[in-house]
Amino acid sequence: MKSYRIALIPGDGIGRDMTAAAWSVLQKAAKAHGFAFEATEFPWSCAFYKETGAMMPADGIETLRSFDAILLGAVGWPAEVPDSVSLHGLLLPIRKSFVQYANIRPHRLLAGVEGPLKATAFDILCIRENTEGEYSGAGGRIHQGTADEVAVETSIFTRKGVERILRFAFEQARSRRGKLASVTKSNAQKYSMAFWDDVTRQLSAEYPDVEVTSYHIDAMAARMVMAPETLDVVVASNLFGDILTDLGAAIQGGLGFAASANINPERNAPSMFEPVHGSAPDIAHLGIANPIATVWSGAMMLDHLGEKDTANAVMTAIETVTASGIGTVPGKDRTDTITAALLAAL
Ligand code: IPM
Ligand code: MN
Repeated sequence: MKSYRIALIPGDGIGRDMTAAAWSVLQKAAKAHGFAFEATEFPWSCAFYKETGAMMPADGIETLRSFDAILLGAVGWPAEVPDSVSLHGLLLPIRKSFVQYANIRPHRLLAGVEGPLKATAFDILCIRENTEGEYSGAGGRIHQGTADEVAVETSIFTRKGVERILRFAFEQARSRRGKLASVTKSNAQKYSMAFWDDVTRQLSAEYPDVEVTSYHIDAMAARMVMAPETLDVVVASNLFGDILTDLGAAIQGGLGFAASANINPERNAPSMFEPVHGSAPDIAHLGIANPIATVWSGAMMLDHLGEKDTANAVMTAIETVTASGIGTVPGKDRTDTITAALLAAL
């Protein structure tokens, strides 16, 4: 029987319950479609940091490299470990080391879910650059704590990095409705963002079948609220994509529905699948977090592994459950109830 080796990193807070729930759904789906999922669980988290002084062991990245994919819950427990430590010790190094440069985040309303907008029919695929830009980590602080303190943080945009994410987005647009929105702020940031616009224009010649429009991030934020149905694929830099995808989560009914995939398109290292939401310390012990975002991320993992039928089966199960009214309103149904409904729907 075909078998996939998956690295499970539940992480912190609700990440633990969400990966457990998603894993039970994925296991059942795999079995029904004649293949196996073999999980190796890693306890890397803020609790692990408290014990060992590191978010993952020094050879953590090398350990993960041999897996077919990574499923991650959430990283962060700011009451005990500063976010700047936990995220730069686990999540962000995985994205960068495995060159998962395409962060894909779908935003649409699932059957039965009411978003906050009047618009009910929209289907946006956000593609976020995931390895450089504003998250490059180039910078420093000098004269710390004094009146002369200086903080510098440089965004880095390389032709290689910008070109590959834009190409990826053009390809996605080509396989969907043929529309691409490229998001920058080139009226204010005249080097990096003007560069991004230039590369967008240059590549557009290679994709005459894709209708590409450049937007400024502020206008795009308004458009996602006022006219989300006009958007198909949206591509943006690391930070802009981060912000727009929380907005995307909001218009699709909340973070409980927002899935994401960190993809290495060249497939020379594993890709990672994780919900957009974090560890949610405020509700972490209540058993009311919605596992749908993680399960949907799992469906994206199936799709990436080439198990399209199984991915579709999981998406159908999700929408069967939401159409029946379960898991559609934040906090109404318990994690266990939603998970049981997903398993039954499969
Ligand atoms: C996300 C998260 C992360 C990010 C944080 C936790 C570093 O907000 O995946 O959107 O900014 O990438
Ligand atoms: Mn975010």
